[in-house]
Amino acid sequence: MEKVQVLLMGVCGYGSGYVQELLNHPSLPAQIAGICEVAPDVYERFPQLKEQGIPVYASPEEFYREKQADLAVIATPIHLHYSQVITCLKAGSNVLVEKPVCVSVEEAQSMIAMERETGHFAAVGYQMDYAPGLKQMKQDILDGKFGRPLLMKTLHAVRRGRAYYGRNGWAGRREVNGCPVNDSPFNNSCAHQFQIMTFLLGDAMDRAAELSSVQGELYRADSRVENFDTAAVCVRTTAGVPIYYYTSHNLKADLGAFAQFRFEKGTVYLGKDYGNGTEEYVAEMNDGSRVSYGINPRSGFMQKLYDAVNCTLHGGHPVCTVQCGIPHLEAVHALAEMPVAQVPESKLVRTFENGDEFCMIGNLEEVFLTCYEKEQMPSEAGAGWK
Ligand SMILES: NC(=O)c1ccc[n+]([C@@H]2O[C@H](COP(=O)([O-])OP(=O)(O)OC[C@H]3O[C@@H](n4cnc5c(N)ncnc54)[C@H](O)[C@@H]3O)[C@@H](O)[C@H]2O)c1
Repeated sequence: MEKVQVLLMGVCGYGSGYVQELLNHPSLPAQIAGICEVAPDVYERFPQLKEQGIPVYASPEEFYREKQADLAVIATPIHLHYSQVITCLKAGSNVLVEKPVCVSVEEAQSMIAMERETGHFAAVGYQMDYAPGLKQMKQDILDGKFGRPLLMKTLHAVRRGRAYYGRNGWAGRREVNGCPVNDSPFNNSCAHQFQIMTFLLGDAMDRAAELSSVQGELYRADSRVENFDTAAVCVRTTAGVPIYYYTSHNLKADLGAFAQFRFEKGTVYLGKDYGNGTEEYVAEMNDGSRVSYGINPRSGFMQKLYDAVNCTLHGGHPVCTVQCGIPHLEAVHALAEMPVAQVPESKLVRTFENGDEFCMIGNLEEVFLTCYEKEQMPSEAGAGWK
């Protein structure tokens, strides 16, 4: 195989990054065999695709009737992932599907069964799992350098306004056409920093830790959002490790990610002093030594594509398996069963900036920092959001 032939599905949103990477990095041993997209203006957005005669199809079935792909990369809406992954595996392609892997644990299990049946892999696009520094941290955890895990917590909140929710027909929705989507900061924009904690606690490099319980407080600030837009979550792994996670779209400026992973022999920090833009995970060991994992969570987000291409050429499975996405999916499902409290109007602040409209919770930063410090839920920290 000279170059991996790639089918790209869903290229006008986040998937545009895959188009750019494949078109502009000739050293990547892969080329686009075809595009699957329902938007009518693919060639207007990417004239290079037209110049290079790369065909656009409306469905993967149409593509596979005419062509073959060694690898399919799927960045379509969440509720389409399952059927598209199954179609591509059955057609003989390996798959890199964007996170979250699909909408139910049952679907994820049947993807794993289909990987076994076809002999092709399905990898998931949680890009932080692919970062070399993070994999090194996980190896050190697996090798026992940190001892027993005691507690993990992360705060990550990003401001999102009406433009974000208006960009498609599924943002902020619980269901689309009767299919659960459960879109929220927890499931989508801030999914990575939760998933990474389950990934780091997995008992093998390509496994995430399973969960035994999920608790949370869910809030809706913007009443036009169907699902919740602010959440505090506490899960426990089956080994009994508590994981706290705080996320929101309703704040003045992005907050975090700040993280603390406590172990018997030391603690890993991301942004220990809450400095802006901290992107380095640093372990401070009880014996006074310090290890930097040199990770920048925002960089190298295409490592997942490089790994998927490499495994397609040389064998193996990219590190983020379908199983690595299941604990996050379980948490999403447990949260979907919980009530969502509407934040009272008296706590909200609305602003218009650069043509966008934002709905903020006035005391969100203060409450979330207290919750994060003390491992509390907003109601325990006196948020007054109910
Ligand atoms: N890894 C990350 O950091 C990251 C960031 C953003 C989004 N995502 C994920 O990427 C996926 C897409 O998110 P988005 O925000 O770009 O969504 P979007 O709705 O903005 O874009 C999805 C694209 O898929 C196309 N599409 C819709 N139906 C299709 C179909 N039947 N066949 C082919 N194409 C179809 C749409 O036209 C659009 O171009 C989601 O799973 C999301 O969670 C990942």
